[in-house]
Amino acid sequence: MNAEITEKEFKLFQSLIYRETGISLHDKKATMVQARLSKRVRELNMQTFTEYYEFLDEGKNADELLRLLSAISTNVTSFFREAAQWEFLEEYLGNLHQTKPNKKLRIWSSASSTGQEPYSIAMFLHEHLHNFREWDIKFLATDIDTKVLAHAIQGIYSEKDIGAMPKVFLTRYFTKIKSSDGVSYQVNDELRHMILYRMFNLVRGDFSIFKNSFDIIFCRNVMIYFDGPTRDELINRFHSLLAPGGLLLLGHSESITRQNSQFKLVQSAIYRKI
Ligand SMILES: C[S@@+](CC[C@H](N)C(=O)[O-])C[C@H]1O[C@@H](n2cnc3c(N)ncnc32)[C@H](O)[C@@H]1O
Repeated sequence: MNAEITEKEFKLFQSLIYRETGISLHDKKATMVQARLSKRVRELNMQTFTEYYEFLDEGKNADELLRLLSAISTNVTSFFREAAQWEFLEEYLGNLHQTKPNKKLRIWSSASSTGQEPYSIAMFLHEHLHNFREWDIKFLATDIDTKVLAHAIQGIYSEKDIGAMPKVFLTRYFTKIKSSDGVSYQVNDELRHMILYRMFNLVRGDFSIFKNSFDIIFCRNVMIYFDGPTRDELINRFHSLLAPGGLLLLGHSESITRQNSQFKLVQSAIYRKI
């Protein structure tokens, strides 16, 4: 199969992807869609993208839909991304034993990708929560892409993934694995067991499954792929799910519109529920 995606085919995928994920693909993304889907089209011995679209059956072919979403979603992430937010979190967590005497903490990393974000948070909780072991912590991490969730659960990262992580964290929270492929690092069991990983679609998911409110919601670097109305709806949902005074952390290029007076800006991309 060497076929190029036609404009009509691209439009079909564009609207299916929007319906199923909220991801709003610009008209200029046809080449990207073609590149990301052609391998799968070839694997299935199909000749055209139309055949593949029909195979997806308007999204009713659930297994294939998951593959499509996995191929389309951009999963770029890293440990301790958004440097300025970690400075804020260090201070916030350091004072939490005074502001939360019940020592209960509910956290949601809502687009967790391959796990670097939730594990960075987990390491920070260990480091900065006063008397960490006395806390009742429930930590949920979700993503639409089941492939990245499987990676996150396994918690194995290459030297490149580890990047410039402080050595002390690497020693405390990872086990070095040597194999013929080189060196990798696995997150220790204690950290892995702190986090409950689940598939959840931020746009199509059923938010009524959340019975308790969260103290902190991380939704970083995913809303950039959504259009305005989808973002606004999601922000309203986060507002309902946050405890009074709860925090919403976005990516550095994401923000809440001024009209939304339900949140107070604490510092760039960090909001507090009013
Ligand atoms: C660029 S990564 C960001 C990861 C991490 N939050 C960070 O800031 O490093 C975006 C993630 O959002 C996920 N995603 C895209 N659309 C989604 C949706 N509708 N519901 C849940 N997750 C979604 C993708 O699968 C991807 O893993």
